[in-house]
Amino acid sequence: MSDAASMEASLIAVADADIRLPLFERFFAAFPGRRASFISIDAASRRMTDETLQMMFGLAKGEGWVWPLVTELVHTHRAYGPLPIAEYDAFIDMTVVELGIAAGAAWTAGCAASWQEQAEALKAMIRRARAEWQVALPDPVTA
Ligand code: HEM
Repeated sequence: MSDAASMEASLIAVADADIRLPLFERFFAAFPGRRASFISIDAASRRMTDETLQMMFGLAKGEGWVWPLVTELVHTHRAYGPLPIAEYDAFIDMTVVELGIAAGAAWTAGCAASWQEQAEALKAMIRRARAEWQVALPDPVTA
């Protein structure tokens, strides 16, 4: 099964689950100070969870829209204050962890490996976007 096909099977398996609140609680357990950054956790958690999954799935399919979406995401997030790269990495890893918990039997070893591979690709793309924004619009605070 291709990366995209096994990833899609796990997304279908979690269609009726809601991974975003457990994901955000996991994230705030690791970064308690971040809770206060959110005006609306309910609103932001829907889009942050959804877009993180979409970006990884899009990368698995070689979609060209992922890069512009990632650059937009990184630029938007510069407005939320200094955001260490470790928090991006953790959020992406935790999204995969929560998906795995919810996916149950659909979470095969191959499926887990596919998500992890695309998680690493997304982390690398975020690093590239941050570096390019830093050149285009230098900001010592978010460097
Ligand atoms: C790949 C990772 C991420 C994606 C795709 C993503 C996506 C988004 C999106 C689409 C929004 C807009 C939500 C809305 O207005 O409805 C948002 C808001 C936000 N994100 Fe992220 N995000 C990511 C990672 C992070 C990380 C690691 C943090 C660290 C805390 C973070 C902090 C925030 C904050 C503070 C807001 C504003 C929420 C508010 O005003 O209530 N994001 N994010």
